This record gives sequence, structure tokens and C-alpha cells, in this order.
Amino acid sequence: MCEGMEGHSLVASADAPTVIHTSSRKRPNYDETRDIHAHIESINASSPSQFAHRYCPQLRNTFTTKDGNADIDVELYAASELSSADFMACFQLLKHTSFAAYKSSSRGWRPEAKKAEMRDEDMRYLLVRRFSNDGAVGAFLSFMLTIEDDFPVIYVYEIHLASGMRRCGLGKRLMHIVEDIGCRARVAKAMLTVFTSNSRAEGFYRNLGYTDDEFSPRPRKLRRGVTKRPDYIIMSKSLNPSDALLEGG
Ligand SMILES: CC(C)(COP(=O)(O)OP(=O)(O)OC[C@H]1O[C@@H](n2cnc3c(N)ncnc32)[C@H](O)[C@@H]1OP(=O)(O)O)[C@@H](O)C(=O)NCCC(=O)NCCS
Repeated sequence: MCEGMEGHSLVASADAPTVIHTSSRKRPNYDETRDIHAHIESINASSPSQFAHRYCPQLRNTFTTKDGNADIDVELYAASELSSADFMACFQLLKHTSFAAYKSSSRGWRPEAKKAEMRDEDMRYLLVRRFSNDGAVGAFLSFMLTIEDDFPVIYVYEIHLASGMRRCGLGKRLMHIVEDIGCRARVAKAMLTVFTSNSRAEGFYRNLGYTDDEFSPRPRKLRRGVTKRPDYIIMSKSLNPSDALLEGG
């Protein structure tokens, strides 16, 4: 859906975007950088309803799982709109799936720092509820429109599904919604960070077309020809605004 936009970053007001052509390796010049900042700030300043209307109209649809067993509604929230119960459900899900990976990484497990990041005013959430379980959050994806190494991007911070909700196409669906938001917001690429210890998630992202980003830390060559992979990699996928889904599609 959102592939093949090598070398284009599009910026300007949400309603009348201007196209700026830049190579993915060529840094934007001063004027382009200023426009990129203004563009991202204007998107992040939009109210939750403006954001949903402009960048996420496809959420009116319900998603049916690959096995046809469940109809799932995906809901969009700004971090500031999450109830404490939903916020804590997301945090607990993240802790459940990823505590061990954080603990054994150079970053370590720092719950308060993680909660502060999750509450960032520009963070937005896609929530999936389990109606068989009183509407409790069963999966979520958090993302932010931001600037990385001078380029406008949509950054996927977290994606976590409860074990009973995996391998039925839901993770892919959530990633496609985010990529579609990125296409509509006219950013150059979708980005994420994954622990190299999480080979399943890495396989999932590669299956979706993500590759090592040019700014990802490189493996280090140690003595005796041994190569050490960093404990995380940054992955990305180029986005093309013309690949945005048709409204409601
Ligand atoms: C990783 C995760 C988000 C994937 O979501 P999911 O709903 O299980 O994946 P999907 O069913 O949508 O799979 C989408 C595609 O990726 C493929 N895929 C899924 N896991 C894969 C893996 N480990 N290796 C290779 N391909 C994989 C599927 O086969 C499917 O391919 P297809 O569309 O060609 O049939 C989910 O398993 C999860 O929440 N894991 C625990 C939390 C976690 O590790 N999060 C990532 C933190 S960085």
C-alpha cells in the first residue's frame, strides 16, 4: 500500500500540501526544514476530531479477522484522551510482552520513563477492545508524527497484542492504518525501533516491507572476525501519499 516514495517529502499546511523533492540521503535545506517543522507542528496541534477526520477516516470500518471469527473495531485516541484504565491496560500489555527484552537490553526496564513517553502530548493510540471481556484493551499501537534526522516521519512507538489476538491479521491491519495516516499526512516514511532479541517482531516487520533504516546502528566488528549486532535496530518503509486508501476503503 504505502511503498515506493523514494526521495519525496511533502510538506505544507494540512489542507494545501506543497511537494518538496529531496533524495532520502540528501538533507533538506534551511527553507525545507522550516516548512517540515511547521507541517508537523500543525498536524500535532489539530484536535482529536480534526486529526481523525483529516488523517484517519478509514477507521469508520470494522475489521474482520483473517479466520473470519471476530469483527474488531479500532479506535483512535490522543494520549490526553485515554482513560487511566485504558492507559494502564496499554502499559500492562507492553510490560507483559516486552519486560524481559527491555530488562536484558542496554536501555533496561525504566517504567516511569516509559509511562512519561506514553503520555507525550503528541502520542496517539489505536486501541482494540475485547468485547468478550467487558471491552478491555486487547491490543494497541501508539505512534507519533515527528521529525527524525530532519525528515518528517510517522514513528510507531509500540504495537502489542494480547496472545489470543495474534496471527490473525490484526497486527498487519494496525500497521496499515498507521501507514495510511502517514500517507495522508504526507510524511516521507514510517519508522520503528525493534529489539534484535525480538526476532518474531522483526520477522513481522520485514514481512510488511520494513528494512533497516539508513540511521540504524550498524553491527560492530569485534576481534577474531566476530560481528556483534546492536541490541536494537531502527527499521523504516518509504511512504507515498498517492497510496492513501480511498475514504472508507
Ligand atoms: C508482533 C505482532 C505485533 C504481530 O502481530 P500479529 O497480529 O500477530 O501479526 P499478523 O497476523 O498481522 O501477521 C501479518 C503478517 O506477518 C507475518 N508474520 C507474523 N509474525 C511473523 C514472524 N514472526 N515472522 C515472519 N512473519 C510473520 C504473518 O504471517 C502475516 O503474513 P501474511 O499477511 O503474508 O499472511 C504481535 O505478534 C505482538 O503483539 N507480539 C508481542 C508484542 C511485540 O513483540 N511487539 C513488537 C514490539 S517491537
